[in-house]
Amino acid sequence: MKILYFTGTGNCLSVAKRFDAERLSVPQMIKNNIYQIEDDVVGIIYPVYAISIPDIIREYLSKCKIKANYVFVIATYGFTDCGSLHEMKKLLEANGNKADYYNSLLMVDNYLPFFDIETQLAKLKEKNIENNLNKIVEEVNAKIKKDENCGWFNNLASSIGYRVVKQIEKHTPKMFYVNDKCISCGICKKICPKSNITQEYKDKPTFGKNCESCLACIHNCPQNAIQIKTQRSAKRFRNENVSLNEIIESNKID
Ligand SMILES: Cc1cc2nc3c(=O)[nH]c(=O)nc-3n(C[C@H](O)[C@H](O)[C@H](O)COP(=O)(O)O)c2cc1C
Ligand code: SF4
Ligand code: SF4
Repeated sequence: MKILYFTGTGNCLSVAKRFDAERLSVPQMIKNNIYQIEDDVVGIIYPVYAISIPDIIREYLSKCKIKANYVFVIATYGFTDCGSLHEMKKLLEANGNKADYYNSLLMVDNYLPFFDIETQLAKLKEKNIENNLNKIVEEVNAKIKKDENCGWFNNLASSIGYRVVKQIEKHTPKMFYVNDKCISCGICKKICPKSNITQEYKDKPTFGKNCESCLACIHNCPQNAIQIKTQRSAKRFRNENVSLNEIIESNKID
């Protein structure tokens, strides 16, 4: 089994780790120019962004050819997955790929401009993540078939709404600033899946224009030195089953 995944704060990686599989980080697949994936089973695990699919995943899957007997897709999200799985089905089919199983998992929402992490963590129990994930893992290991079932309203909302929400999210990186707690450790630079951060010697990091808005740099800064002007939460999040090093290893492309 091979799993293609992308993660900013570890939710998707924590799901990927539940399978006995070779894990393939999408940023690294793009960097290494690997666009052919072949195995008996191939999985795609991604976070819902802008009620749709992150651009980095779109970019990759619009070129990647997947050859497998069973393909599964799992989206993780924090508030609503809307028609994201339907968008994924369209994306796969547009490039001659198809999946046998689609499902999504409600987890912690890491989007700081809209959500407060304390409140998110308080809701962990009611989200029933462990049980829902166990069920997904069982179904995938049994090679159950399951189509996406987002419904016409959600499909429409995602295909139209994506562009609107994306316009709002596009401004998020312009709101980033670094405070004096920064110790110039360079972790934000290493963890950025788009090589969008410059950080030299004793300087604070600076951000370029090639941002995925994944918030990996912000949530994983050990000093909590990166802020967003519009953030709802001073508290940061990383999935409890994933280490800082694992996210760095997933995302580093330099
Ligand atoms: C830029 C951005 C946009 C997001 N948009 C949505 C969304 O539309 N709906 C939703 O339910 N969650 C949204 N989220 C939350 C993530 O999908 C969720 O926290 C996900 O599990 C994060 O996975 P990761 O920890 O592997 O990065 C968004 C997060 C980010 C960073
Ligand atoms: S991770 Fe945080 S402390 Fe380290 S260089 Fe980046 S902003 Fe500074
Ligand atoms: S600058 Fe930060 S938010 Fe933007 S892509 Fe890099 S890690 Fe993600």
